[in-house]
Amino acid sequence: MFDLLPDFWIPVISAAEIGNTPVAVELAGERLVLFRNSTDDIGALLDRCPHRGAALSLGHISAKGCLECPYHGWQFDQNGNCTHVPLNNPNALKLSRLAAVSFPTRIIAGLVWIFTGQGKPKTINIPTSLMGAHNSYFIHHEVWNAHWTRLVENALDYVHVPFVHRNSFGGEIGEPAIAAGSFAKFQIVPTEQGIQVFSYYHNIKSGFAFEWYQPNLVVLKFDEMGMPVRIHSFAIPINQHQTRYLLVIQFIDPDAISMIHEFIEPIVEDRVVVESQNGEIPLIGEANVPTDQPTLSFRRWYHQAISRQAVPI
Ligand code: FES
Ligand SMILES: [Fe+2]
Repeated sequence: MFDLLPDFWIPVISAAEIGNTPVAVELAGERLVLFRNSTDDIGALLDRCPHRGAALSLGHISAKGCLECPYHGWQFDQNGNCTHVPLNNPNALKLSRLAAVSFPTRIIAGLVWIFTGQGKPKTINIPTSLMGAHNSYFIHHEVWNAHWTRLVENALDYVHVPFVHRNSFGGEIGEPAIAAGSFAKFQIVPTEQGIQVFSYYHNIKSGFAFEWYQPNLVVLKFDEMGMPVRIHSFAIPINQHQTRYLLVIQFIDPDAISMIHEFIEPIVEDRVVVESQNGEIPLIGEANVPTDQPTLSFRRWYHQAISRQAVPI
């Protein structure tokens, strides 16, 4: 299951979007249903009833907080246990054999996270900037028609800024560097979960600091009005052709929330270009230059750990 990105904790949607009706989501090629039970816990089940395969997301939440199938009314709790079969009287043993497929969930930074592995979920590794109160984050998400690996590379690539973002923030940043004949330079430090990168121009002091966390999170770090701002970009695979771009920003200073449009508006500039690319990042067949170092780090990891293709010498 979840062949596009197996064995990771992945955020899928804002917890605030799960109300008193079931919500259908697709994650890494699997159709899931999320729902909130009577104690406010969020369950994630395969969106397929174990009885005759109807979509559970078309059902509703019972008075006891179970998810009721729209077809014959079987009910399931957040762990997938079947709790009721109308017009039948199954004993406990029979009921235990009628469970729906369920997945571990957690709420972190106001997001619902799902574990895409089998068996005991592994430890979740996230930056400290995602450990704040659930309501301290601004969350934006949208669907791009692109493979998730292209979105990760876009977030790791700051050489595109003067071109893709020429008409927004990129012109001001990039044009002086290009006019000055600058070369892009990088400091790349491997970490336990990815890489830390400082990207700068050889003859200009300022630059970008960012960090990649395996598998699909890039955090851009800078200060605004003297306060640290961390912009978290997740590339969440929906299927081979679509990806949810999820932006999570924690503003230490609540007044800074008024600047949020500055981060949202340029996203469409990236989206147009990334959607023009051709599917999953390939093992071979695309040309590389020194400024591709951060994305090449991601490519090496991806082809070893996820696509499981050999890495050329
Ligand atoms: S298909 Fe779900 S109860 Fe029959
Ligand atoms: Fe961009």
